[in-house]
Amino acid sequence: MKKTIMAMSVIGGLSALALQASAESADMMQLAEQKQCMTCHALDHDMPKAPSFTSIAKKYPDSALEVLAGKVRNGGEGHWGAAPMPSAGARVDVTDEESRQLVAWILNMRQDGKQ
Ligand code: HEC
Repeated sequence: MKKTIMAMSVIGGLSALALQASAESADMMQLAEQKQCMTCHALDHDMPKAPSFTSIAKKYPDSALEVLAGKVRNGGEGHWGAAPMPSAGARVDVTDEESRQLVAWILNMRQDGKQ
């Protein structure tokens, strides 16, 4: 009986976490759309314009967060193909904090748990 109650509360706790995670990821999706990231990037398929966020997540470890956040702010090129990621000024402004949040969200799309 005690075990059943414990198992139930564990399951309850997990689904609360899952709900929270999906609420956060919906917020991040909204931010990405607002910052127009989604005009070039898709979540899970590479587009001619830019790599998908899932591909980016697979290519980089979590420790690349700061480097990638810098690229979100300042642009970058030559890692995927000919098209450059446009620099700040050519796009909607993204703050330091927003770029870190966006990159953390992108890196979280990695499925294989590479570190
Ligand atoms: C005008 C199209 C465009 C927009 C808008 C855009 N990107 Fe990109 N992004 C690219 C391209 C092209 C690349 C690949 C650049 C390269 O080869 O290094 C890229 C690369 C990236 C990378 C990986 C950088 C690397 O070094 O591999 C991240 C992370 C990223 N974009 C995040 C974002 C986020 C977050 C936003 C919104 C704030 C955004 N991008 C908006 C075109 C775009």
